[in-house]
Amino acid sequence: NGGGKGGRGALIVLEGLDRSGKSSQSARLLSFLEGKGCATEGWRFPDRDTSVGKMISAYLANESQLDDRTIHLLFSANRWEKRSLMESKLLGGTTLVVDRYSYSGVAFSAAKGLDIGWCKAPEVGLLAPDLVIYLDVQPEQKVAFSAVVYSGYPKFLMVNVNLLFQKAAERGGYGGERYERVEFQKRVAEHYHSLRDSTWKVVDGSLPMETVEEQLRELAMNCISECQDKQLTNLPW
Ligand code: TMP
Ligand code: MG
Repeated sequence: NGGGKGGRGALIVLEGLDRSGKSSQSARLLSFLEGKGCATEGWRFPDRDTSVGKMISAYLANESQLDDRTIHLLFSANRWEKRSLMESKLLGGTTLVVDRYSYSGVAFSAAKGLDIGWCKAPEVGLLAPDLVIYLDVQPEQKVAFSAVVYSGYPKFLMVNVNLLFQKAAERGGYGGERYERVEFQKRVAEHYHSLRDSTWKVVDGSLPMETVEEQLRELAMNCISECQDKQLTNLPW
């Protein structure tokens, strides 16, 4: 039980390309931690509910155009406007499971060709995560799914068809928002790679959902118990 007993909560961030399964895995992790009696909240960036978040959302939906540096700073501002609430939640013993954070900010903008140092600068002073879980899925990687085929007579014949594949890029909705293009996502992945540090755990996102879920549970539980007495720090970039 990681919550409320004097120790602070953990800042756990999930990162990955679009359609890597982050949002489903965050939700699963959240309900697992809640079930353990752990004070937990699920957050996500961009937080589209704030006024800055609404500008970001319109930009992502291609309803507005913004200069690359301008949108970069809006994404960062969207984290800054949540920083003090984030800090008080953590100090109050609540663990935060956050779907995307500063690493998305840097990797996506750098993939447009912006200077990495310039991209990192506005993130300095935001809270440093205790754990970053990177769900590793290549945009062109084939994600297997299995189908069970029954032939009815005289007996059920169960065939596990593992021959059916679906490209991550073809999953529902891909291409609906700005950035959801395979070539761009490949560049984002390269930048993510260069951002990895000691807080990162890379999880193979192409494994079955339950396997990924199990790995995330273990990583999160370890993190929560280890960071209770650790000081909160800021991103060092
Ligand atoms: P979402 O699909 O997780 O809501 O994220 C929307 C898009 O915004 C996604 O393509 C990643 C991108 N993004 C940035 O470019 N910079 C950021 O700082 C964040 C948080 C997301
Ligand atoms: Mg998206």
